[in-house]
Amino acid sequence: MSSSIAAALVPDLGIVEAIMLVGGKGTRLRPLTINTPKPMLPVAGVPFTAHQLAQAADAGVTRVILGTSYRPEVFSAYFGDGSDMRIELVYRTEEVPLGTGGGIRFAAEALESGPDDPVLVFNGDVLSGVDLPSLIKSHQDTQAAVTLFLTRVADPSAFGLVPTDAQGAVLDFLEKPQTPEEIVTDQINAGCYVFQRSVIDEIPADRPVSVEREVFPDLLAQGRRVTGVVDDGYWLDLGTPMSFVQGSADLVLGRVRSSAVPGPVGPSLCLPGSQVSPSADVTGGSVIGSGAQVGAGAKVVGSVVMAGARIEDSARVINSVVAGDAVIGETAVVRGSVVAEGAVVGAGNELTDGARIWPEMTLPPHSIRFSSDR
Ligand code: GDD
Ligand code: MG
Repeated sequence: MSSSIAAALVPDLGIVEAIMLVGGKGTRLRPLTINTPKPMLPVAGVPFTAHQLAQAADAGVTRVILGTSYRPEVFSAYFGDGSDMRIELVYRTEEVPLGTGGGIRFAAEALESGPDDPVLVFNGDVLSGVDLPSLIKSHQDTQAAVTLFLTRVADPSAFGLVPTDAQGAVLDFLEKPQTPEEIVTDQINAGCYVFQRSVIDEIPADRPVSVEREVFPDLLAQGRRVTGVVDDGYWLDLGTPMSFVQGSADLVLGRVRSSAVPGPVGPSLCLPGSQVSPSADVTGGSVIGSGAQVGAGAKVVGSVVMAGARIEDSARVINSVVAGDAVIGETAVVRGSVVAEGAVVGAGNELTDGARIWPEMTLPPHSIRFSSDR
């Protein structure tokens, strides 16, 4: 869909600009994030940010400010001015990370919106099917200072808890609660907001600020209207290797939709230039990157195999990441693990339970049955 058609679908929402926070270091995804910022890791065949930009463009957003900090050049080298994504992209790079609130404030200096205009804000690592037009409509109907997209999760402790009243008015913010008593709801901040532009301009500009720990609680303390909209559709934070693999597989399988997936929904996505043996079994939403090879009798399930990697004959790769140019030797088993760029897992080895093999590391054949909980 061209941006003009997309915009025409939502002509009166009055929202055209968004800020995407992509400055985090992605520490929990190391070693994959040593050279590549988390939002640029390939998810269902393209950098994760491409899915978010497509989602924004599909909702009628025409201009996105990317709030970068860690490795900003990786974003600009891929996306340029955004024209391939049907969007005008502007980069704002923090020399020293300013936190989520400080990052929003710093990015906002590139906005063209007026003080009363709504501005979308996205965390750069959340995969969801959120209905953006209805989130914006709700923001406009309630005339809130900020409207938050909320979701419900079984274990909210790793997120920001956001209890609301029956009308959706936000009552409190409890970021990463430390004690069981603080777990007062299963509703969490799902990482997407609509801000009144003037409210962003109130965030201090000269120091790091957390939107979750400072901006939102301050707005409540001032008696401002902050509203939460619970959406029980698909939602995933791609902060860990296992959730990153899960998100990629879910996009390939069509459990969540993105117009940026470079292929039809199906059991696997084999990118142009990949070579998969007819006797190999590639399923569970696996992606085989360009120039990657999968040998005879090999099995790849629910995994991301990046460009130029090689899965040799009869190897098994289950729910794992095999990064660019890495090699998994014959009959080796890699389960729930991360094999970083250029690493070699020699024939017959077995990796399980969250093992992480660092870039260029070599495990000699039949040397190890490696298992770790880190
Ligand atoms: N520009 C910029 N500068 N971006 C940043 C910075 C910064 O200093 N710090 C973090 N970010 C970006 C990250 O790249 C990520 O896209 C987003 O802000 C959120 O940071 P995470 O580090 O992923 O936070 P989290 O997952 O622990 O928690 C946040 O997201 C949860 C939902 O996934 C919070 O917003 C929670 O309240 C929320 O529940
Ligand atoms: Mg996150």
